[in-house]
Amino acid sequence: MSLSRSTAHRPASKGPSWQDGGVSFDPLVLDLLSQLPSYDGSAVFSLTARLREEGWASEVISAALTQSRLRAQAKGKFGSRAERMLFTADALEQASRPDAAAHHASVFADAGISSLREVGCGIGADTLAFAQAGIGVTARELDPERADFAAYNLRDYDGAVVEQADGLADITEDALWADPARRDPHGRIINPEKWQPPLSVVLEAARRVRVAGIKIAPGIDYSHLPQDAMVEWLSSRGELVESIIWLGRGTPGRRAVLLGGASLTVPGNPSKPAEMVEPAPLGNVIYEPDPAIIRAGGIATLCATLDLAPVAPGIAYLTGGPARSPFLTGFSVTDVLPLQEKKLSRELRSRDIGTLEIKKRGVNIAPDALRSRLKLKGSRSATLILTPLLDGRKAVLVERLPPDSEP
Ligand SMILES: C[S@@+](CC[C@H](N)C(=O)[O-])C[C@H]1O[C@@H](n2cnc3c(N)ncnc32)[C@H](O)[C@@H]1O
Repeated sequence: MSLSRSTAHRPASKGPSWQDGGVSFDPLVLDLLSQLPSYDGSAVFSLTARLREEGWASEVISAALTQSRLRAQAKGKFGSRAERMLFTADALEQASRPDAAAHHASVFADAGISSLREVGCGIGADTLAFAQAGIGVTARELDPERADFAAYNLRDYDGAVVEQADGLADITEDALWADPARRDPHGRIINPEKWQPPLSVVLEAARRVRVAGIKIAPGIDYSHLPQDAMVEWLSSRGELVESIIWLGRGTPGRRAVLLGGASLTVPGNPSKPAEMVEPAPLGNVIYEPDPAIIRAGGIATLCATLDLAPVAPGIAYLTGGPARSPFLTGFSVTDVLPLQEKKLSRELRSRDIGTLEIKKRGVNIAPDALRSRLKLKGSRSATLILTPLLDGRKAVLVERLPPDSEP
């Protein structure tokens, strides 16, 4: 299908579409963009001068170089596809990662959803995943430039329609996906009622469709979560990625999802506090749970299943086992040292430790600052875990266990 038909981009109010040749979408910009060499920040001045000499207008050069820079920046997130996309700096930052977006799409596909309304598609990162999964999606975006860019980014997909309009109006689809804007010029917005659109407004719309997913802040207070929702926390390589409220997916609960891997569900009302577990004395191994498990309140489930316990009340370092789980990183305990800088420095120097990875929970110490104060010199490297234990705050010297080893 041709560009103009593959995404029926219909500006509901004003604003140019990429077909109309708006400022950012001037075909000349796309033409120049297709001819530019790989982005090199240090060559921008000389390149600009050369392009001016060749007769390119300065707004065209500026728009093309901006896109070239953003594409280079977007490679980490979108890989080679970035070369075929258009971005704004903010929208790139807010865009879902492709592996998370693929997860969103798989949930709708598994529920048999074929028509989806997307509220606030930005530059269309989630929309791409929906379209790639074969889900018919009407993606709405209030911001005219983002709507334009999303339309361009979706140009290869017949089943995707991008509209510059209010995503919450006239919903006729079976399902809804919303990713409210959670930042403003001052930074992160904590109160979900200040998100755009506000969480309660999205939830109201979500209750009128069969299945709905709403991306939320991973650190959201449980009290904001609907009692009948399944709420997921996604992580990748030990990094918390995002959280989603799902409605219409059956049994309520909280779930930790390792992207591309295992998941663990804690059934029950997701707005209730997480169950606490009695601590136990530190054994030979200390386990660091994946952040998705911690945020999903799954520590009690993990402890019950694997015979583990926290090393101190409310501390998400676990001990016991031996345990193997994709949700745990195990460290064998070499020594338990006093958490006093002079003594610690002496102990570490005596072990010839010069490179130190510092992890911490439940102690108010900045690892980088502590590392520089310790003034270590040595040829060996080590990991130090700063944490309360049952007998007070300690520095636990550990060695990381290989992921699949039996401790
Ligand atoms: C976090 S961004 C979405 C990012 C997108 N999921 C992606 O992966 O690229 C949120 C977007 O919602 C848009 N928005 C906010 N309220 C809206 C509404 N009522 N209708 C349509 N778009 C809206 C904002 O302009 C913003 O671009």
